[in-house]
Amino acid sequence: MRKPRLEGKVVVVTGAAQGIGFGISEMIADEGASVVVSDINVEKGEAAAAKFREAGGKAIFVRADVASESDCAALMQTAADMFGRLDGLVNNAGWYPRSGLEQTTTEFWDKIQDINLRGPFYCCKYAVPLMRAAGGGSVVNMGSINGIQGLPNLVAYASAKGGLLTMTKTLAGAYARQRIRFNYLIPGWVLSEGEIALHAANGHSLESLQRTGESLTLGRHQTPLDSAYAAVYLLSDESVQVTGTVLNVDAGASSLPIQSADLYVG
Ligand SMILES: NC(=O)c1ccc[n+]([C@@H]2O[C@H](COP(=O)([O-])OP(=O)(O)OC[C@H]3O[C@@H](n4cnc5c(N)ncnc54)[C@H](O)[C@@H]3O)[C@@H](O)[C@H]2O)c1
Repeated sequence: MRKPRLEGKVVVVTGAAQGIGFGISEMIADEGASVVVSDINVEKGEAAAAKFREAGGKAIFVRADVASESDCAALMQTAADMFGRLDGLVNNAGWYPRSGLEQTTTEFWDKIQDINLRGPFYCCKYAVPLMRAAGGGSVVNMGSINGIQGLPNLVAYASAKGGLLTMTKTLAGAYARQRIRFNYLIPGWVLSEGEIALHAANGHSLESLQRTGESLTLGRHQTPLDSAYAAVYLLSDESVQVTGTVLNVDAGASSLPIQSADLYVG
């Protein structure tokens, strides 16, 4: 019988109540990890953890706002207290409303940085000592094509995801000797709940969004599963020699000409 790829590992996933984080959590629970589902949305987060348990997985929900240092510290400690160790962290919580340079207020800039960059910093800061105690660990930072080549209407978000890329490489160097790995995963265009809501607010129906899928480089929008396969690899011992890298699951979007650039919000 095939051995689950994450058996015995304890993994925290932020922003796991829906979208890509939900998909990653579901797959890593299925691969034998004990999953700490974390989010600010308590109702959906609790429901997600319950669903993974009903399917035979090990999962709990912990409410944490990644913009809060004390929440992130408590989240990591709860994971270790509940499951005895901490091996993995997926810094997935993110927020990506659009704004060009001249429309971006200080408050908007700060909120985007708080969720997309300061949050992963806090989570790494409090996960690392626990991973060191476990003899090593793996951190997956959810990146974006915007972290490499930002779109004009995502100035603050692109800056945050670019900072997250540099943080990933910096920490990979800083903690390699302690066997704590840091990698940057770039999803393609996923029609997550957040993505659909953002486009609905801008007058784009789900049907019109779905039609754009056929024009994308590999012929369809992505699902959370596409990122989840990559996250399982990065969290597992299969990638034990992989750190400081970018795992690009963007369907060629960063290599090939950008399509539907007015809609793509990464
Ligand atoms: N959807 C895409 O096409 C796409 C593409 C590239 C990168 N990404 C990245 O993938 C990640 C997930 O995106 P998604 O599309 O699934 O988003 P989503 O909006 O569907 O889900 C995000 C989750 O994060 C939670 N969250 C928001 N703020 C939080 C906070 N302060 N603390 C804790 N949780 C918080 C939300 O409640 C929600 O459950 C993000 O980092 C995003 O930048 C998404």
